[in-house]
Amino acid sequence: MNGSSFCIKGHFVDTPVLGKVRLRTNHILVIEDGKIKDIVESKNFDTSSRKNLIDYTTNPNTNEIQFIFPGFVDTHCHAPQFPNIGIFGNTTLLDWLNKYTFPLEHELTFNMDKAELVYKNAINRTLSNGTTTIAYYATIGKRSTELLAKLCLKMGQRAFVGKVCMDVNAPEYYSETHSECIQDNKDLIVSIRDMNRKYHKDKFVEPIITPRFAPVVSKETMKCLGDLSALHDVPIQTHLSETFNEIDLVMKTFPECDNYTDVYNRYGLLTNKTVLAHCIHLSEEEASLINEKKAGVSHCPVSNSSITSGECRVRWLLEKGINVSLGTDMSGGYSPSILKTARQGLLVSRHVAMKTSDEVGDKDKLSTNEVLYLATKGGAEVLNLEDKIGTFDIGKAFDAQLIHLGNNTNVDLFEWQVPSENVDNEDVFMDKWQDVIDKWVFLGDDRETRHVWVDGLRVK
Ligand code: GUN
Ligand code: FE
Repeated sequence: MNGSSFCIKGHFVDTPVLGKVRLRTNHILVIEDGKIKDIVESKNFDTSSRKNLIDYTTNPNTNEIQFIFPGFVDTHCHAPQFPNIGIFGNTTLLDWLNKYTFPLEHELTFNMDKAELVYKNAINRTLSNGTTTIAYYATIGKRSTELLAKLCLKMGQRAFVGKVCMDVNAPEYYSETHSECIQDNKDLIVSIRDMNRKYHKDKFVEPIITPRFAPVVSKETMKCLGDLSALHDVPIQTHLSETFNEIDLVMKTFPECDNYTDVYNRYGLLTNKTVLAHCIHLSEEEASLINEKKAGVSHCPVSNSSITSGECRVRWLLEKGINVSLGTDMSGGYSPSILKTARQGLLVSRHVAMKTSDEVGDKDKLSTNEVLYLATKGGAEVLNLEDKIGTFDIGKAFDAQLIHLGNNTNVDLFEWQVPSENVDNEDVFMDKWQDVIDKWVFLGDDRETRHVWVDGLRVK
């Protein structure tokens, strides 16, 4: 199943370089078999030879401007936790897990009817917020994980789907043995890849090895999971350095290790295919180790603010050369929207800036263009999908969202019409576009996301 062939006329906005927006107004994208075949200025395009040309430059009802942006990439999301959105009270990580999270995940491990409803809702909500690629944690259960993978395939969301692994120090009702964990992971690598092959000729939904976090995974299990990842070329996702209590627990459990990051490294889980959620309280040595191993970071600012975990120093990570992306971390986070996560990422960076001296502090602030990069190309890099998604370039998949800024932004802006051909003053033109993009980042939500395409197929 792949997207059909068609052409789209529109204003294309993307972020191929950190901090910079690339704007291609009045361009035509030629899409064949779900992939971008060509990108040309509309004035150089012979439309008479093309059927299936759709014009998205303005909204047909209001004549207001629209633009097309790459689909968002959510590099950290717990699908079974969606019913708990907004429910965290004053808890912090470890009591939040025990009070809210483990009981719900446990239920969805065996109640497949409820799991199906919850997963469909998670996929629908993230897709309608423009998330075209996502890395999911399912539950500890194999069937429950297979169900999530199957629904992603059916509903058309590009995804990594992982069975949560936890074989020690977990509540008795929600734990597994070492051998169950390894066998289930072996089975899932085969079954998810088989499932994918039925729908797609290339990788669309993929397995991901998911040791929940060091406190609940035995050393032997970590080691075997690392071996499985290497043997079958499967990525890994886990949590790292989210709260101080968690770090204390890890250092008590693994006294032989230099620090939390060293635990994953020593037991074979820190690789260039590893996605590390949070990474808030890292030391210089830990950041250097992550950079050396080329693992990627999923920054989850909504979650980190909600369950009071801390403020990730994104600029500090980026300056070390580490790839950083964004994660909703539902339901540690309360919003399935990567746009809102980007907005909160921008604010958290300003909190970091307020704590450092004026001169240094300004440097810590992230711009709207930078958080949009983290939301798209940054995510593609962390998931090793930069050849496939993240920007509009020839050869990549057409994973995109059509954005129309409606009443909840500022309609005055739309008295401005984009000239159909030459632009008189490039700078003024670019400033106006920057205003449009900034308004979207600060005021937008899923009402602005009119259409969503994954691999050339309309899914919203
Ligand atoms: N650490 C271990 N498990 C979890 C989880 O489900 N959510 C978050 N935010 N942190 C975790
Ligand atoms: Fe998480």
